Amino acid sequence: MNDKINLISKFKKKINELKAHNKHYFSEDNPIISDREYDDLKKELIKLERENKFLKKLNLLDNLVGSPPTNKFKKIKHLLPMLSLSNAFDKDDMVDFLKKINNFLNTNKNDIELYSEPKIDGISATLIYENGILTKGLSRGDGSTGEDILENLKTIKSIPKKIDNKNVPNLFEVRCEVFIGKKDFEKIKNKFANPRNAAGGSLRQKDPRETSKIPLKYFAYGLGAVDPLKFQTQSDFLKIINGWGFLTNPLSKTVNGILEIEKQHQKIDNLRSSLDYDIDGLVYKVNDLSLQKRLGNTSNAPRWAIAYKFSAEQAVTKIKSITIQVGRTGAITPVAKVEPVTVGGVVVSNATLHNEDEIKRKDIRIGDTIQIQRAGDVIPQVVLVDISKRKSNSKKFIFPVKCLCGSNTIKELSKNTKKEDAVRRCTKGYECQYIAKEKLKHIVSKEAFNIEGLGKKVIDNFWNLKLIKEPSDIFNLDYKKIRSLEGWGDLSIKNLKNAILKSKKVNLDKFIYSIGIRHIGQENAKILASFFISIKEFSKLICPKQRKYILKNLLELDGIGETQVDAIEYFFSNEINAKITQNFIRQLSIINYSIISGDGKFSNKKLMFTGGFQNMSRSEAKSIAETNGGKVLGAISKKLDILVVGDTKPTKKKVDQAKAMKIKIIFEKEWNKILNS
Ligand code: IVH
Repeated sequence: MNDKINLISKFKKKINELKAHNKHYFSEDNPIISDREYDDLKKELIKLERENKFLKKLNLLDNLVGSPPTNKFKKIKHLLPMLSLSNAFDKDDMVDFLKKINNFLNTNKNDIELYSEPKIDGISATLIYENGILTKGLSRGDGSTGEDILENLKTIKSIPKKIDNKNVPNLFEVRCEVFIGKKDFEKIKNKFANPRNAAGGSLRQKDPRETSKIPLKYFAYGLGAVDPLKFQTQSDFLKIINGWGFLTNPLSKTVNGILEIEKQHQKIDNLRSSLDYDIDGLVYKVNDLSLQKRLGNTSNAPRWAIAYKFSAEQAVTKIKSITIQVGRTGAITPVAKVEPVTVGGVVVSNATLHNEDEIKRKDIRIGDTIQIQRAGDVIPQVVLVDISKRKSNSKKFIFPVKCLCGSNTIKELSKNTKKEDAVRRCTKGYECQYIAKEKLKHIVSKEAFNIEGLGKKVIDNFWNLKLIKEPSDIFNLDYKKIRSLEGWGDLSIKNLKNAILKSKKVNLDKFIYSIGIRHIGQENAKILASFFISIKEFSKLICPKQRKYILKNLLELDGIGETQVDAIEYFFSNEINAKITQNFIRQLSIINYSIISGDGKFSNKKLMFTGGFQNMSRSEAKSIAETNGGKVLGAISKKLDILVVGDTKPTKKKVDQAKAMKIKIIFEKEWNKILNS
């Protein structure tokens, strides 16, 4: 007994020693023993634990050393979401970006000042300083919640642990991209597929000491939460923090207008191969932070920034066969299976052929030698067919007119353009097992239910094993069977069960988005949720009679047009879709669209807009209402508090309806006054 007590006390003492060395090394950047001595101490503790089960039960070591990379970091909610970026691939896309900014701000400037920065292909992280001290370091996670990787980030020597400057805001969050240099990667390349994976793997080591073995670097690129705000422009911000000790990219530059955008793009593209880090394009940001604030964000990405990707890397290969893939809305996409070839460091064996017309236009055939290109994460595409290499007996590719499920396919006629759609679609819904599987993948995706541990690959696997056929099955999984599968242990099953249980509680707008009606993306799902408020009301769409009446009303919603209404009708008029949606609803606890809104001038107020405004677009007006705590509704109803009427062509019917219902009406002049007050 005494031996046991002695051993426990010895073990605890050594644990404390290890803790102290971790502190010297990671927090103070000042190790007092050699790496060898540290490793020996670690090994000794692991050995003691292995040989004495009662020590293992104390669970003292797990948090300190030696665990393999894991996803078990503490979760912390981001102060502000970490968004992604929209992409541009050519000059036209950039002209479009400038146009959208002007539309939103209701301006007409060709030369709005942008700040251009290399887009580093690494891993994003965010650093939070309180009174100048680095107190939190998080990974991006799902964008709204990150993981606590502070200790690992602290191993990067050039990240300031303390900022010695009196101008540092009390709360100061710096967004940065962590990467591994190309030369450093050469030394460890047998362990990882590419530098990005190496950086990610290293940052997610449970033992910061392991992180420190891989030489990570970073560039700061953005401002997160800040109080008080002391910067006016993105370029100033980066210049100032560079003075405070942060590393910022020296190739960044202000540009004005499309010609300068193109020039800068070309210049950096030419330098690209000589840099010691991977970049896949340039990020162009509106330089003025107050304009950034006005522009705000869409669901996933800021309106004030865009990633302009470099032209894709290319390679030559041969088409082995052409198959088709069926998407969640039934779209049939032809895919070329090609002889594996490396394009920009990644082995490619599939290339998209987009649609039937594209195959016809390029006369793409099985056996053809083709040039393919890969831009960023986008699926590789065929650039050209080398007809000189074609065999004389090659035959034109005949596009299948049936879906993989055997059903007929159609090309729709667009109501707007009166032209036939280029995309062929399966005419079925959930009855098509290919569509059903893709719908399930959509349901569990990050933007919808975001169930940790239930990603696309797991859905594929569970589907093949007939564990899941429809969404409601997610909540009745046969865990016994899953436990017998390779890669599933007690812990992963427990985590999956918990994640699924947690996901049962879902907001109405997320639910509407998740069921995957064509043309109903995240924004439209919100508009619909604000109209229906509860799942009870939304479910009325399932009943044909009620649906007809509701759909008519939906047309009144700002943002919902005939295309969306037709898509809703198409979805619910399919009885199997309707039944499956009902089964799904039964498993869930769907939260009403929240009318209780945030703080601000329009707190708890429901507003609606009609007409155009002089100083801002209607989109900006709506976004202002939301950031000031209001809720924007799409139709006049008794629930509405204020109708805001812009001077340019307001809809008379809406104004009359509001008057009849005695709803408060504000005209443009008054609206501007409230905003300036
Ligand atoms: S700005 C609101 N600037 O790219 C999002 N991002 O695709 C603002 N990235 O998550 C992002 N270099 O990890 C920005 N100079 C740069 C960047 C950069 C790399 C990464 C970042 C972001 C991702 C978006």
